[in-house]
Amino acid sequence: MEKIEKYFQTLTESKEPNNLYNPIGYILTQSGKQIRPRLVMLATEIFGGDVDSSIHPAAAFEMLHNFTLIHDDIMDNAPLRRGKATVYKKWNSNIAILSGDALANMALQQLLITETSPDVILKMVDIFAKTSLRVCEGQQYDLDFETQEEVSIDEYLYMIRLKTAEMLAGCLETGAVLAQTSEKNSTLIYNLGINVGIAFQLEDDILDLYSDVTTFGKVRGGDIVSNKKTFLYLKALQLANSKQKEELKMYFSSNDFEAQEKIEHVSAIFNALHVKEETEKVIARYFEDSKLIISQLEISDEAKNRLKSLASELMIRVK
Ligand code: IPE
Ligand code: IPE
Ligand code: MG
Ligand code: MG
Ligand code: MG
Repeated sequence: MEKIEKYFQTLTESKEPNNLYNPIGYILTQSGKQIRPRLVMLATEIFGGDVDSSIHPAAAFEMLHNFTLIHDDIMDNAPLRRGKATVYKKWNSNIAILSGDALANMALQQLLITETSPDVILKMVDIFAKTSLRVCEGQQYDLDFETQEEVSIDEYLYMIRLKTAEMLAGCLETGAVLAQTSEKNSTLIYNLGINVGIAFQLEDDILDLYSDVTTFGKVRGGDIVSNKKTFLYLKALQLANSKQKEELKMYFSSNDFEAQEKIEHVSAIFNALHVKEETEKVIARYFEDSKLIISQLEISDEAKNRLKSLASELMIRVK
């Protein structure tokens, strides 16, 4: 992963216009968890592919991810990411839109320079395009749900599948394609990514409220302030008595409340209803399903164990 970080530095160094490339260098060299490149490289490795050539698709997905973050922070009004000012705050929204667009295209270029056959490149580009579109679809639902009065848990799960899980699944599938493994393994590893990705976003929803800014690097309670219909909120509605339900609906139907007061009131209701624990139970179920998928893969036991530990690292995390 240090190799990727160094590589990212060289990609934007002394490129002009500065206001286009500096924000890209800024976000790519922050210490994110680098989950997506790790998934691409691990999948390539466990299916017997050439790990050295997987660095380009790995970089491509980390770049695509960072592009989505630049735009997501505008959409979510988020001032802080990875403990630093977000791109649109440090520069401005126009710069954030444009440098995001540039970054997405730089990501695509990474796929095209991968040392493999044209046929494999075509398949990787296909996955990349599919993933990008699904993220857009998920992000649109996420925005729609802010003002849509009734959102079901199934609708929410479908939304996070699109906005988050498809990217993790696409990374694993890309490694499988690069390694030219069987159709069966490709499909299973894609499904594993969907499973792990849904649990990953559920955990992200928990951490948004139940972590602190120094560990998580994002402003605490941002989802509540933006009226995000997260799993915590939907579960709370399910479990609430009529007074709590009324309060939750009131807080989530307006943008006019003072942020801290809103966060404290809503989290008091969440705590009373133990929605954090309820969410953790659902995450644990996804982990069990993930283990079942891993057991069906046609790979060595050692490789299965590596996947299992990565899956648990992603589901049980602090940042
Ligand atoms: C943040 O992803 C966006 C979500 C899908 C929740 P990560 O939690 O992987 O962010 P970084 O890259 O490690 O900062
Ligand atoms: C994931 O959702 C967003 C992306 C698909 C980029 P969030 O909006 O919850 O992600 P964070 O919490 O800002 O990282
Ligand atoms: Mg968002
Ligand atoms: Mg966000
Ligand atoms: Mg979040």
